[in-house]
Formats: sequence, C-alpha cells, structure tokens
Amino acid sequence: MSNTTKSTTTGFYNYRVVRQFSIATVIWGLIGMLVGVLIAAELTWPDISMDIPWLSYGRLRPLHTNAVIFAFGGSALFATSYYVVQRTCGVRLFGGALVGFTFWGWQLVIVAAAITLPLGMTQGKEYAELIWPIDLLIAAVWIAYAVVFFGTIVKRRTPHIYVANWFYGGFILTVAVLHIVNSAVIPVSLTQSYPVYSGVQDAMVQWWYGHNAVGFFLTAGFLGMMYYFIPKQAQRPIYSYRLSIVHFWALIFTYMWAGPHHLHYTALPDWAQSLGMVFSLILLAPSWGGMINGVMTLSGAWHKLRTDPILKFLIVSLSFYGMSTFEGPMMSIKTVNALSHYTDWTIGHVHSGALGWVGLISMGSIYYLLPRLYGREQMYSMKLIEVHFWMATIGIVLYIASMWIAGVMQGLMWRATNADGTLTYAFIESIKATFPYYVIRLTGGALYTVGMIIMTYNMLMTIRQGQTTEAAIPGPVTTPASAATA
Ligand code: HEM
Ligand code: HEM
Repeated sequence: MSNTTKSTTTGFYNYRVVRQFSIATVIWGLIGMLVGVLIAAELTWPDISMDIPWLSYGRLRPLHTNAVIFAFGGSALFATSYYVVQRTCGVRLFGGALVGFTFWGWQLVIVAAAITLPLGMTQGKEYAELIWPIDLLIAAVWIAYAVVFFGTIVKRRTPHIYVANWFYGGFILTVAVLHIVNSAVIPVSLTQSYPVYSGVQDAMVQWWYGHNAVGFFLTAGFLGMMYYFIPKQAQRPIYSYRLSIVHFWALIFTYMWAGPHHLHYTALPDWAQSLGMVFSLILLAPSWGGMINGVMTLSGAWHKLRTDPILKFLIVSLSFYGMSTFEGPMMSIKTVNALSHYTDWTIGHVHSGALGWVGLISMGSIYYLLPRLYGREQMYSMKLIEVHFWMATIGIVLYIASMWIAGVMQGLMWRATNADGTLTYAFIESIKATFPYYVIRLTGGALYTVGMIIMTYNMLMTIRQGQTTEAAIPGPVTTPASAATA
C-alpha cells in the first residue's frame, strides 16, 4: 500500500521517525552541553586538558558547537518539523525509505563529526568545520529531508499551508543553499581540501553562511516550532495570522543581507560593512513582530503560565529571543562592535540566543511531544519539568550576566591608554580579571546541564511507562483555523 493510500484511508502518521529524532535531541543535547561545561572549565583552569591533544580546547570547542547546533538543534528541528507537517497537512510523511535515511544519515554525520573533530580534522571555518566527505553526506541527507518535507506538503489534504510549514520550508531550502555554496572546495586528500574562494571573498561567503546559519538554522526553524507548539499548548489561536505571514517574508528577506556585521573593521569594503549594519538594525522589526505575535497568543490564557511548566519553557524562550534580537542589532553598530568584538560579550549574546531561545523552545516542544508519541496523558513527572525550568532559567541568567560584565570589562581594558599613549593593561591582566566571571559561567552552564539530565530521566521514565501505539493513533487534519484548539 502506498504512503498516500495509507494516510488517506487510515489517517495514520509516521511517528516512528519523530520518536527517534526526539530521543536523539535529548541525548545529543546532554552530550553537547557536557562538552560545553568541559570547555568552560578549560577556559577557567587551562591545565585540566593535561596536554592531551584530543582534549584540547581548540578541538573540543568545535565539537561543542557542532553537537549543540547540529546534533541537538538539528534533531529537534527534524522531530518537530516531521510532526507538524503531518499534523497540519493531514497526511503521512512522503518518501518511504528516504525518511529513515534522513534519521540514520544525520546520526552518521554526528558520529563522524564526533570522531574527526577531536582528531583535529577540520576545514577551519566556524560552524562549517567538517571535512569534505562529511559535507557530501550532509548535502545528501539535506536533499532527502527537502524531498520528504515538500513531498508531504504537495500531497496534503488541506487547501492551506499552515504558517509553521512556511518557516520550516524556508529553513530547509536556505540551509541547503548555504551549505552547498559554502562547502565548495577542491579536495586534495580524503581529509584535506582548499576553498574555491579566496581572501576576502572567502570570508564574505563564510559569514554569509555563518550569519544565515543563525538566521535560518537557529531562528526560522525554531519559529516554525513557536507557531505550532505555543498555540497548541496554550489552547489559543495565533494572535495574528496576518502578522505571521508578514513576519515570514520580512524576516527571510532581511536576514540574507546582515552577514557583513561579522566582518566589521576587516578588509571587506566599508560600504558592505555598513550595509550589513543597516540590515541588522532593520532586522529588529520582524524579529520583535514575531516575538510579540508569539507572546500575545497567550492573550486570555496568561493564568496557565502559573501552572503549566511546558508553557513556561515556550514563553520564556520568547523573552530570550526578544533579548538576543535586540542585543544583536545593537552589537552590529560599528562603534558598539569596536568594543564588543573578540570579547565575551559576543559569547553572552550567543548563549542568550542559544540557551534561552533555541534550548528552551526545543525542550518545551519535546516535552509536548513525548507523551503524545508514547500514548500517555502527560510526562512521567510534571514536577521535574518545573524543576528543570527553574534550573535552566537560573543557569542562563548566571551564564549571560557574567559574560556581559566580563565582555564589557575586557573591551574597556583593552582600549584603555595612558597619557603617553601606551596601553594601561597587559592582556594577561584582563584574563586574570575575567577569572571570577568564568567560574560563574561554569556554574550557570553546569546548572543548565543538570536540568538536561533531569529531562533525560523524565524522558526515559515516560518511555518506560508508555507504549508506541503508532497504529492506534488517529490523524485528524489540523487545519490552520483549528490549529490552536484541535
Ligand atoms: C549547557 C551549557 C553550555 C556551556 C557551559 C557552554 C559553554 C561554551 C563555551 C565555554 C564556549 C566557548 C566560548 C569562547 O570561545 O570563549 C561556547 C561557545 C559556543 N556555544 Fe556554548 N555552551 C553551552 C550550551 C550551548 C548551547 C545549548 C548552544 C546552542 C544551542 C551553544 C552554542 C554555542 C556557540 C554557537 C558557541 C560559539 C560562539 C562564538 O564563536 O562566538 N552552547 N559555549
Ligand atoms: C536580529 C537578530 C540578530 C542580530 C542583528 C545579531 C547580530 C550579531 C552580531 C553583531 C554579532 C557579533 C559579530 C562579531 O562581532 O563578530 C553576533 C554574533 C553571534 N550571534 Fe547574533 N544577532 C542576532 C540574533 C541572534 C540569535 C537569535 C542567535 C542565536 C540563536 C544569534 C547567534 C549568534 C552567534 C552564534 C554569534 C557568534 C558568531 C561567531 O562565531 O562569531 N544571534 N550576532
């Protein structure tokens, strides 16, 4: 029986792959965060790497970023997009065996990254470190993902394409283009290659990729989550469906131009830097429009925040989204960037987006999904979700507040000069002054990670007591009008 027949006659969905990616999200999240805690400790006490090459900071840092962005964030995006596209289109996933290929292919990419990065094999481009054979595998998995996702949209039973799918679709298409263009290299051996671009063009392509990785991988896909899981969990319709469409087009148009703010005061032509700055400032408007749309969806349901820890995860993630998308445009102003660049202020900004926005919305969405995927009323322990929420929130505040203070302090110390023009502080003095803030960051990161351990336990207990009753799960079409309440 073909997929199409199966879905239209029985209405059953493919929850197997959603389950697989949901579990992968939690496991990889925990591992990526543990590596984050380890490198935060290495920055505080450099000797703990004991001069072992594969434990060195330079090798583990890209392992951390790849694990949290692509393994944790990526798995959350696969899990939720596969769930949402089926529920809102009223059909089973298109693609047959391709669906399984996206799961196992993506896991293979992650394992290959976890082996090659500690061995020191890298292309040396941030967020695009993996060597070219792995890049080829990523491209294959991503194209399969696009076929599955858009194939499902094409065979949908609803006349309308629900807005969450626009965000997921935009993210899938753009990441394919970014990855393929930025990975264009000439291989010279199995593990080494040279980029086809050179000099400042290479830098511009890299940061066009890098910034849009933030805009599409770490933002647009997660906005897809916002537009589905917040209305569902709050049992309220989206505040303004019209605004959500304006939000989509404005966001994807503006993000594309903002990359040069990563290259202020470099060999990039000045006009290109200023263009990046202007578009970054404009980006505040669609970002906040989207955030307000998400938060206002709670109109008439604010009281639920008091008792529903999953809603707390989802809504507080939006406040961090608002915070980081206010801070980002400010940091893109050249005179502000002259202070913030190279300092821990950037790291604070990154983690208010990463821990606050990406982390919390993923956790909230996975908490929503797990009981539904395992035929249970709710998670094993709602109390533990509440505990997790507070540990994560306090952890984020410790992390980002310490990095803001450290960053501004470093920037000011590095630029301070004496009357005779010499530097007031040696570089090492700024490192010594940063030490207490590194300890606070480590504490915050560790708290956040303990929260993730609690989530893992809660997930395992939910799975143990649940059942994978895929065949018994009926599939009503969730149309946009009913999306909030169906
Ligand atoms: C759970 C605790 C976490 C800890 C303790 C932690 C710690 C760190 C540390 C120490 C660095 C290097 C900072 C530096 O170079 O000075 C870093 C970089 C980074 N982390 Fe995390 N991290 C955590 C979670 C996450 C999560 C969940 C994400 C994403 C979803 C993330 C994304 C990143 C990114 C993108 C960078 C690179 C920043 C840049 O180059 O500017 N981190 N992290
Ligand atoms: C309106 C939205 C945003 C703007 C205009 C913006 C702008 C900026 C700027 C100016 C920097 C510093 C560049 C430098 O000095 O090198 C930066 C760094 C960064 N931002 Fe944002 N940001 C925004 C939102 C976000 C969000 C929501 C996230 C995460 C989810 C994020 C993740 C990052 C990362 C990972 C970096 C570090 C890049 C690196 O490795 O150097 N940003 N952003």
